[in-house]
Amino acid sequence: MRLLVCGGAGFIGSTFVRLRLREHGDQVTVLDKLTYAGRRENLHDVLSELRFIEGAIEDPDAVADALAGCEAIVNFAAETHVDRSIAEPVTFTITNMQGTHTLLEAARDRGLRYVQVSTDEVYGSIAQGSFTESSPLQPSSPYSATKSGADLLVSSYFHTYGLEAMICRGSNNYGPYQHPEKLIPLMILNALAGDRLPVYGDGLNVRNWLFAEDFGGGVGHVLAHGVPGEAYNCGGPDECDNLAVVRRIVELTGAEESLIEYVPDRPGHDRRYSLSSEKLRALGWEPRTRFDQGLARTVEWYRKNAWWWEPVRSGAYREYYERHYGRALKG
Ligand SMILES: NC(=O)c1ccc[n+]([C@@H]2O[C@H](COP(=O)([O-])OP(=O)(O)OC[C@H]3O[C@@H](n4cnc5c(N)ncnc54)[C@H](O)[C@@H]3O)[C@@H](O)[C@H]2O)c1
Repeated sequence: MRLLVCGGAGFIGSTFVRLRLREHGDQVTVLDKLTYAGRRENLHDVLSELRFIEGAIEDPDAVADALAGCEAIVNFAAETHVDRSIAEPVTFTITNMQGTHTLLEAARDRGLRYVQVSTDEVYGSIAQGSFTESSPLQPSSPYSATKSGADLLVSSYFHTYGLEAMICRGSNNYGPYQHPEKLIPLMILNALAGDRLPVYGDGLNVRNWLFAEDFGGGVGHVLAHGVPGEAYNCGGPDECDNLAVVRRIVELTGAEESLIEYVPDRPGHDRRYSLSSEKLRALGWEPRTRFDQGLARTVEWYRKNAWWWEPVRSGAYREYYERHYGRALKG
């Protein structure tokens, strides 16, 4: 296929691009604004095999330029960090909602197939059981609210204009190339450096962990086999609370458990996410990577790829980290 992948220089977008080039032989154009989270380095091994356009999804001219010759759009581009959405929410509305709306208009004009990459966070928290695609959207953070808004726009373009649009909602992803602000790489890199490991609240928030390659496969499945107008959940095979994740990282890195330090909880922190993925499994998708195996691979990747994370940890991220965790950590 000739694909436009928006946000293809981010963590999951770059994983998806690699899969499409290596396993499907697609022609890929990447449109990415290269925010703090997007880097050409995420595509270092495949950059020569694709067309790269630096631009914003909310810019109709950049979108028109990027779409030349494309048959479908897959939209990963987003502001994605819940903590940042609490500190600077408006950027989230612009990228996640206005940006999605701009892409939908372009898809409608050209009659293109469209996949919106979304998240389990749109459903909010669930104490027991799992969300299905017909569960109500009850987002808690500005991040998940803007992702929910985008999902509703996507559905409206199917109902109103007949756009061939689908939504794929993933659970918490992890794997190589994830920005160190997110839980798993944050803990791996702090543990490797012997730095403290800041755990929110009591650490018992539960997430349904999904290896990014498996999510990339799920999004590809929706692109190929999804029914227009439908949403598909894509959940990981294992759930685990944050404290257990951090303890496992301590074991895998050989760090001291005494580095774990509890810090004040994130406001509105959802307790548990859980997805039922039966609908996507019925299309033939299933996750290949169990959490223990994927976590060990991820720790190994960060150990071996300091060239990738050293520039990130020493730049603007350091200031962000000090601002966010500095006062909360003792001493
Ligand atoms: N990370 C997860 O656990 C997870 C889980 C489920 C769903 N998702 C969804 O998957 C998608 C990708 O997430 P990720 O973790 O790879 O995020 P990321 O933050 O690593 O990457 C986001 C990418 O989007 C780009 N971008 C941001 N604003 C843009 C704009 N206005 N125009 C063009 N590009 C822009 C960034 O430069 C970056 O390359 C997001 O839509 C996210 O909501 C993520």
